[in-house]
Amino acid sequence: MLRTLFVFGTRPEAIKLCPLVLWQKAHPETFDVRVAVTGQHRQMLDQVLAVFGVTPDFDLNIMQPGQTLASSASRILAALEPVLREARPDLVYVQGDTTTTLCGALAAFYARIPVGHIEAGLRTGDMAQPFPEEMNRVVTGRLAAIHFAATEGARNNLLAEGVDAATIHVTGNTGIDAVLWVRDRLASGELAGSDYSFLNPEKHLIVVTAHRRESFGAGFDHICEAIGRLAGRCDVEIVYPVHRNPQVTGPVYSRLAGLANVHLIEPLDYVPFVDLMRRAAVLLTDSGGIQEEGPSLGKPVVVMREKTERPEAVDAGTVRLAGTDPERIVGEVARLLDDGALRAAMSRVHNPYGDGHASERISALSLALAR
Ligand code: UD1
Ligand code: UDP
Repeated sequence: MLRTLFVFGTRPEAIKLCPLVLWQKAHPETFDVRVAVTGQHRQMLDQVLAVFGVTPDFDLNIMQPGQTLASSASRILAALEPVLREARPDLVYVQGDTTTTLCGALAAFYARIPVGHIEAGLRTGDMAQPFPEEMNRVVTGRLAAIHFAATEGARNNLLAEGVDAATIHVTGNTGIDAVLWVRDRLASGELAGSDYSFLNPEKHLIVVTAHRRESFGAGFDHICEAIGRLAGRCDVEIVYPVHRNPQVTGPVYSRLAGLANVHLIEPLDYVPFVDLMRRAAVLLTDSGGIQEEGPSLGKPVVVMREKTERPEAVDAGTVRLAGTDPERIVGEVARLLDDGALRAAMSRVHNPYGDGHASERISALSLALAR
């Protein structure tokens, strides 16, 4: 019996860890599972827990409006100490590169409990992009005992930093477990689709998300300018579920509210969001997770960032990096909309980030390593 503790706190960590939590809970003969959520996100985390039916054993409930990096980090670290003492896990899982990830790994390290880092080895090589995520990943990598890398590229990044090869395992990304699970059930009708009858099927649907810290300020002004210019086309409709960070809602609502062809909406639950993505002509985003999901859904992705830690789909030609210059963003999206052959070529379904079975691989490896 392996006692596992999952520590997560934001929307993407929850989407990517819930499939693994459910897989281990379905095998109670081998796994004794506990879930600790930090509540770094509140509403956006709870939306995901509800979709997957995961009830946390511990909820640190740390979110404050407009929280700073240091304040979240210090509250998470302090609140995890008694949780680890009570849960006494054999292995702590953290995922990705958030403040919760870093503090979960550090708290477990202080308690001398081995850390399994899921989605290990992503790197841009630039500590300022994404900020602070690149540093969070690097430090979490140093704290972790086991590295679950999604791709060979991620494994190579870790090897280049001198990580012991025996501790790195290529498993695919658990986020692909989640998106394929939803995609297939939406297709079969097992999961109900959402009511998107307000969308005009004659128009190209552009689904937008953006939230990166390094784009706050000028970057967001540019992103909004690009969205405004794209909305000026009469053949497009833009749906933008706006991230709840006040640094995002402020500029986005003030620049884009009321614009024709733009629907600003609250963050969507995961299933309706996947349903929305599968109706899109283009995904326009700075999200990490959506760069991975786009190829699995056969959707072209235009990334509003200068650098990405997920080069596989860029190399395969289904993701394009546009940066945050409005000219480039508008140019990349317009080219896709106006060139049907290019759009078709970029709309290829492929799964460079996983095959939907990462959860079972990570679970089997965790058991084998604990023996
Ligand atoms: C965090 C992660 C980022 C990840 C992103 C996913 C860090 C440093 N950043 O960024 O890596 O890509 O989540 O979305 O860990 N808020 C709410 N309700 C919510 C969620 C957020 O009101 O459900 C607001 C709060 O005012 C909160 C603010 O957003 O203070 C910022 O949240 P925080 O988790 O600190 O940063 P994100 O920008 O969401
Ligand atoms: N997502 C969602 N609802 C939304 C927008 C995004 O469920 O309204 C999902 C999306 O499918 C992906 C994840 O949230 O799985 C990405 O989260 P985010 O962009 O906040 O973080 P990142 O991946 O950039 O860390």
